[in-house]
Amino acid sequence: MQIRLMEAGDVAAAAHVLAAAHKVDFDFGPMLRRNQSLTPQYWWVMVEQEAVVGVVGATDYGTFAHIGLMAIDPGVQMTGAGTALFEYCFEGLRADGFRSITLYSTDAGLAFYPRFGFRWAGLSTEWVLRKRKSIERRFEVGGNLSRVANWDQDVFGGDRWRLIETLDAEAPGRVLVARDPAGTVQGFAVAQPVVIGPFAASSPEVARDLLDAALDLDYNASPRVILPDAHAEGETLLIAMGFGAFRTSRYFIWGEAPVQRRGWMYGQGAYSLG
Ligand SMILES: CC(C)(COP(=O)(O)OP(=O)(O)OC[C@H]1O[C@@H](n2cnc3c(N)ncnc32)[C@H](O)[C@@H]1OP(=O)(O)O)[C@@H](O)C(=O)NCCC(=O)NCCS
Repeated sequence: MQIRLMEAGDVAAAAHVLAAAHKVDFDFGPMLRRNQSLTPQYWWVMVEQEAVVGVVGATDYGTFAHIGLMAIDPGVQMTGAGTALFEYCFEGLRADGFRSITLYSTDAGLAFYPRFGFRWAGLSTEWVLRKRKSIERRFEVGGNLSRVANWDQDVFGGDRWRLIETLDAEAPGRVLVARDPAGTVQGFAVAQPVVIGPFAASSPEVARDLLDAALDLDYNASPRVILPDAHAEGETLLIAMGFGAFRTSRYFIWGEAPVQRRGWMYGQGAYSLG
């Protein structure tokens, strides 16, 4: 088996491996292409007799890296392929100086990632809108992105401005920013076509107004929120706004924990994006 950088021509086969490994009928292609465009040097495939049998990648946020979209073709799982591919990615990131690496794990990864020194650091819950509740907004929510990058750097503990710009370009006009009467940024939410995230707010009240504004938009399916930590403010808000929890995943960290305000984080862009 050979491990090499993922090329444009590998994306369809890598997406097929992801769908087969996760047993879902979902096209991972657009997500793979976008994540690779953010950090092209950290996306790899494992190839056996010219067929892609594994994929993994990471996003560079400057202060830390986030690994995502790890999958091995079901036909070659449990033979050491995942260990070899993950080690390659992990060693590459450490060689580039990362002292802090994060990821979200499925149940299959629970026994897998601790082997490499990753430690369990929390539970994330994924929510889907069941029945919208009406509320009265108190904050101004609009599309002016100025100062969002600085505000988010403090909350996320890394630079994800390129990600936000990329999501804005993919679905223009769907980055919503909440400001107080003085015009200071208090939070933002990216209303992707299905997932509302990245989504961060300085208080549950701000988060509530952002989520309500996001729900005024159209979606390709029932909108979802992936709450990075199952914190009380986030879960209470989502329940009050008519969402129901439908699955969980675990947050793992290797090395130093990123310096984040996780209590202000209400939604991630995707598991693969941190
Ligand atoms: C998790 C995964 C990447 C591991 O790849 P792999 O090639 O099977 O891994 P290896 O053969 O190198 O190592 C096997 C170890 O992985 C763990 N593991 C793999 N699949 C597992 C599963 N379905 N349930 C529980 N543990 C699993 C076990 O710890 C196993 O160790 P053991 O053989 O001592 O029991 C692969 O199983 C996979 O793609 N799963 C589906 C997609 C997925 O969940 N990806 C992880 C996203 S975070």
